[in-house]
Amino acid sequence: MSKKPFPNIDLDGHDFPPSPAPSSPRPGRKYALATELVYTESNDQYNASSMPIYQSATFKQTSGSGGGEYDYTRSGNPTRTHLERHLAKIMSASRALVVSSGMGALDVVTRLLRPGDEVVTGDDLYGGTNRLLKYLATNNGITVHHVDTTNPESVRAAINTKTALVLLETPTNPLIKIVDIPAIATAVHAANPGALVVVDNTMLSPMLMNPLDLGADIVYESATKYLCGHHDVMAGVLAVKDETIGDKLFFTINATGCGLPPNECFLLMRGIKTLAIRMEKQQSNAQAVAEFLEAHGFRVRFPGLKSHPQHALHWSMARGAGAVLSFETGNVDVSERIVGSTKIWGISVSFGCVNSLISMPCRMSHASIDAKTRAERHMPEDIVRLCVGIEDISDLIDDLQTALVQAGAVRITADGFEAWGTGQTVAGGVQVKTDEEPVVDAPEVGAGAS
Ligand SMILES: Cc1ncc(COP(=O)(O)O)c(C=O)c1O
Repeated sequence: MSKKPFPNIDLDGHDFPPSPAPSSPRPGRKYALATELVYTESNDQYNASSMPIYQSATFKQTSGSGGGEYDYTRSGNPTRTHLERHLAKIMSASRALVVSSGMGALDVVTRLLRPGDEVVTGDDLYGGTNRLLKYLATNNGITVHHVDTTNPESVRAAINTKTALVLLETPTNPLIKIVDIPAIATAVHAANPGALVVVDNTMLSPMLMNPLDLGADIVYESATKYLCGHHDVMAGVLAVKDETIGDKLFFTINATGCGLPPNECFLLMRGIKTLAIRMEKQQSNAQAVAEFLEAHGFRVRFPGLKSHPQHALHWSMARGAGAVLSFETGNVDVSERIVGSTKIWGISVSFGCVNSLISMPCRMSHASIDAKTRAERHMPEDIVRLCVGIEDISDLIDDLQTALVQAGAVRITADGFEAWGTGQTVAGGVQVKTDEEPVVDAPEVGAGAS
């Protein structure tokens, strides 16, 4: 039997102490999530209240056969472990892992696939996810089925013995469609017990939803968004309940070297502590903006609105609506002018940050999905996405209102103003788009960014 060269070093991550259970003030009572986000414990030698950055690639061993808890930062680092245990606690997981980006997290998941395996996923996916799956289908012998995941029956119909992963996003982005995670997880596990249900929880964060409690096997998210909250860190998070899956994911992270570096771990940990208060403000601002646009006649997609066709389903799984919404003007040029006319709303991909952002997904985050595919998936080219931050709500609405007027998106009425609406001619004589030619090979502005 081969002897491990460094028996005391836990290269495979098997001996990790269990992540701290939710810290209990006394038996029978748990702290609320907002408290858990802030509350941490560590065994730091100086009792530092903020976990220090262990900016060290290697760790000295006590003897030639090892002896230290850490040896090399690609395999493990105290700052990273602290963050991972904190995340496991708030994600309702037995193990969490942090890597260099959200796409890095999905890459780690897809390394579970073997040639011949099949993936079932949605038809309104984040552009970068779509691109990675397309790459795997083209180069690695993986078959990818894009189905309408808002209908659990379409997912179930696509499952067979070769299905290895079912990959879900909810709410989808930018169409804000809701996917029934419990119904799909039950159906998938019944049809093929070996298939793993994977949920990208970037749009909600653990503050608003715990997919592992809804039947998912793996949850991952771009921590670049809400978890960090300040657009100054790129990071991805993975979490599981089943530790054997966690071991496999850790193997890839250690083997490929995509674990999150200590500096980023520190910044992400700091961001997580303010998640609750940021999310609360971002959500209430998003609700006000959504109501403002809807009241003036725009078609708005936001699960916080009663008019959302899957309002009840969303609230059966989530604790909040999030802070991303989209609306349509009926005209691509008008949408472009709105995006170009705002001042406070920065024209940018991504979301989840403290400052508010505006974008045209079909020209930006989703440009990596070709126009023909976008058309097949009924993605309106004029859709405008708003990612709402923590600014003063009156300033946000004033700025948006000015942009709507300047862009000719609204007409003045006796009571104020209202959207021209799909199918009408807007101010300035710009004809509303109904059957615009698809833009083939659209340039990838901010390619693959969110
Ligand atoms: C829903 C979703 N998943 C995954 C990603 C990828 O994350 P990252 O940009 O951190 O690689 C993004 C955004 O970029 C996203 O919006």
